[in-house]
Amino acid sequence: MIVGIIGSGGREHAICTKIRESSKISKIFCIPGNAGTNHIAKNIDIKIEDFKSIKKFCLNNNIELLIVGPEQPLVDGIVDYFLDTNIKVFGPNKLVSKLEGSKIFTKELCEKYNIPTANFKIIKSLKNAEATLKSFKFPLVIKADGLAAGKGVYICNNYNEGYIAANEIFNGKFGKAKNLLIEEFLDGEEMSYFIISDGKSYQFIGSAQDHKRVGEGDKGKNTGGMGCYSPSRLLNSKLTEKINNKIIIPTLNAIKDMGSEYIGFLYVGLMIKNEKPYLIEFNVRMGDPECQTILPLLENDLSEIFFDCCAGKLSEKKIKLSNKKSICIVLCSKGYPDDYKKDSEISKLNKLSLKDNEYIYHAGTKLKDNKILNSGGRVLNFVSTSNNIKESRDDLIKLIKRLDWENGFFRKDIAYKVID
Ligand code: AMP
Ligand code: GLY
Repeated sequence: MIVGIIGSGGREHAICTKIRESSKISKIFCIPGNAGTNHIAKNIDIKIEDFKSIKKFCLNNNIELLIVGPEQPLVDGIVDYFLDTNIKVFGPNKLVSKLEGSKIFTKELCEKYNIPTANFKIIKSLKNAEATLKSFKFPLVIKADGLAAGKGVYICNNYNEGYIAANEIFNGKFGKAKNLLIEEFLDGEEMSYFIISDGKSYQFIGSAQDHKRVGEGDKGKNTGGMGCYSPSRLLNSKLTEKINNKIIIPTLNAIKDMGSEYIGFLYVGLMIKNEKPYLIEFNVRMGDPECQTILPLLENDLSEIFFDCCAGKLSEKKIKLSNKKSICIVLCSKGYPDDYKKDSEISKLNKLSLKDNEYIYHAGTKLKDNKILNSGGRVLNFVSTSNNIKESRDDLIKLIKRLDWENGFFRKDIAYKVID
C-alpha cells in the first residue's frame, strides 16, 4: 500500500516512523517532509497549500491513503478537494474543521449543546470591545477568531492590555477580523485529551500535558510547544467519563445534527478546575509535540487504524496504549520563538546511539550536501518511554548534551509536575 503524509514537522516524522513499522506499507511519500522523513520515506517538494499539485502527484503515484498532519490544509478543505478521487484522506472535512478554524463556531456550538467552557462574548467592533472590557472581570482572555499559529490568544490583566489586544486583532494582526472573543479566564490546570474517530464511533488515543512557554518554570513567551509528557497526571476514570459525556459525545452529536461526520484525530484542549473539565479549544489534528510523545506508546498498527477510520470500521479495533510513560523534549534554535539563525549544521546527530526506548523525530531540519541543517525554530524532538519518567528525562538530557549543537537550547524541566 502506498501512503502520502502532508506536513514537515515532528508530528509527521513520528507518524511516518509508526506507519513504516507496518508490513502493509510498501512506500511512503512525505509532502514536503524534513531531513528525518527523508530516511524512511521519499520527500516531495510541493507546498502544502498547493492542493492541485498534491492531487496530481497522488494520482500519478497511486497513493491510496493521504494523511494530513497540520490544521491549515484541513481548514482550507483538502478533504473535500479529494472527494472526486478514490484516494482516502485521513482528516476532517472543511465544515467540521471549523472546530479549530473558528473559535466562535466552537463557542456557539458549546452554548447550543451545553458543553462546559469559559463564559464568553462575541465582539464585533472596537467600540463593542471597549464596553465589554468595562463590564468583564480581570484577568480575561481575548482571542482572534481564526487560525493564528498559536499566537491569537491574549491573557489580559487590565483594561489597557485588553484594549491593545482588541485593537491589534481588529487591525488585522492575524488576518482580516470581523469579530473576536472575550472570555472568562479559567484558573485551573491544562490537559490535552486525544480521540480518533471514523465518523461513526471514536476511541481514546492518549492524553498529555505540554509546556508551551519558552522558559523553565513555564515562564516567557508562548511557543508551539517545548516538550510534554504522557499520560497526563490529571486523568482518571471519573474525569474520563466527564470529558466523554459532557464534551466529546455532545460535540459529535452536534456534528451529526449538521448532517456531517468527523473523521480524524480530535485534540481536545481542556482546563481542569475542581475536577471538572472545561473546553478551551479543539484542534482538528494531533498535537505537536504530543503526537511524538504518544505514538511510541501505541501498540496497534497505525496504518490499519487510519484505513479503518476512512472506511468507517474503527469499532472493529481496540486501540491499545502501553502502560509506560513517555516524555518529549524539544530542541530549539537559539532565539526561538523570535528570530533565530538558520542553516547551522547539527553535525553529531548521526553519531548518537539510541536505546530501544528512545526516539529522535526531526522537525525544522533539512538536508544539504549530506549535512543536516536547522531550518525552523523547533528542530528535534527527543522522546523516551519507560516506567520512570525522571530517568527518561535524565537520559534525554544526556543525549542532547552529547549532540552538543551550539545553536540549540531546550528546557530541562519538562514534566516537572510529575517529577519534582
Ligand atoms: P488556545 O489557542 O485557545 O488553546 O489558547 C492558548 C492558551 O491560552 C491555552 O493553552 C491556555 O493556556 C490559555 N487560555 C486560553 N483560553 C483560556 C481561558 N479561558 N482561561 C485561561 N487560560 C486560557
Ligand atoms: N502543542 C500544541 C499544539 O499542537 O497545538
